[in-house]
Amino acid sequence: MQPLYSVEHETRHNTNRAEEENVERPEEHTPLLHRFPQAVSERRTLTMVIVSLLLIVLIAGVIIGIYLLVIQNDSENVLPPIENPLQLVSRSQWDPSNEDQSALRSFPYRLRAVTVVHTGTDQCNSTETCTKLLLEMQSNATAANSTLRYNFLISSNGQTYEDLGWLKCIPQSTKTTTPTGLLLAFIGNFSETSPTTRQIQTAKNFFAASESQQYLHPSYRIYAKNMKDTPPNLAKSFKDFQQWSNEFSDKK
Ligand SMILES: *[C@@H]1O[C@H](CO)[C@@H](O)[C@H](O)[C@H]1NC(C)=O
Ligand SMILES: *[C@@H]1O[C@H](CO)[C@@H](O)[C@H](O)[C@H]1NC(C)=O
Ligand SMILES: *[C@@H]1O[C@H](CO)[C@@H](O)[C@H](O)[C@H]1NC(C)=O
Ligand SMILES: *[C@@H]1O[C@H](CO)[C@@H](O)[C@H](O)[C@H]1NC(C)=O
Repeated sequence: MQPLYSVEHETRHNTNRAEEENVERPEEHTPLLHRFPQAVSERRTLTMVIVSLLLIVLIAGVIIGIYLLVIQNDSENVLPPIENPLQLVSRSQWDPSNEDQSALRSFPYRLRAVTVVHTGTDQCNSTETCTKLLLEMQSNATAANSTLRYNFLISSNGQTYEDLGWLKCIPQSTKTTTPTGLLLAFIGNFSETSPTTRQIQTAKNFFAASESQQYLHPSYRIYAKNMKDTPPNLAKSFKDFQQWSNEFSDKK
């Protein structure tokens, strides 16, 4: 009885299992069969979405990169004139024996005036001829116990020669209403001829450089000295400058 029972029990159990399996399998199998391709297609879509997103990010990156390059090129083109940058010849380049001159004052603040004059000498249009001319002018000035009193000089070929530089100014000998400022000389005698286009273009660059390096106050003015030192031919070149004051810096 016992084994029979057990057999019976087992068969019953088996039939029960079979029944259970019969009942449960279709329920288990169909969802599995359904879920599997669904999971695959979901994963595929997910991968597609991720890949597309990455592609979009990559393409956007490339586009932004190209855009920035174009912008940069454009802004470089928009920046102030690069066709004729300031060609500055420092004092030590043309006058190696230069010593610090004690009579000169330093101006740590921004200057509000530039006086333009001519040197009343020959013109020069190369570093070599200008160096020769400047040394001669200096030795002439030293002979008279004076010194070249210019802050910068501009040659016919558009070079800028440093003399006293930006930070030193000769105190004005006469009391004037105009503020002390830079003395900018044009090398040549412009009583009868006009300064060269390159000289004037260089002057523009010089003003811009002086302002951007904060040696000149943004509201600076440009003055003539007097008819002798600033002949009409030279003054005429600055008439169009918005900073031109139309006044003499040495007027009483
Ligand atoms: C400049 O030239 C004029 C004549 O062209 C002359 O009278 C004048 O003395 C010269 N200026 C200087 C400072 O040599
Ligand atoms: C340079 O200046 C000298 C005189 O100072 C003149 O004879 C010569 O023609 C000038 N050269 C140029 C290229 O302007
Ligand atoms: C320097 O002085 C001499 C003699 O007075 C004169 O002939 C010469 O032109 C002067 N040179 C300059 C650059 O002023
Ligand atoms: C130049 O200065 C020296 C002393 O520094 C003096 O002996 C000489 O007389 C002065 N020359 C002139 C022309 O002022």
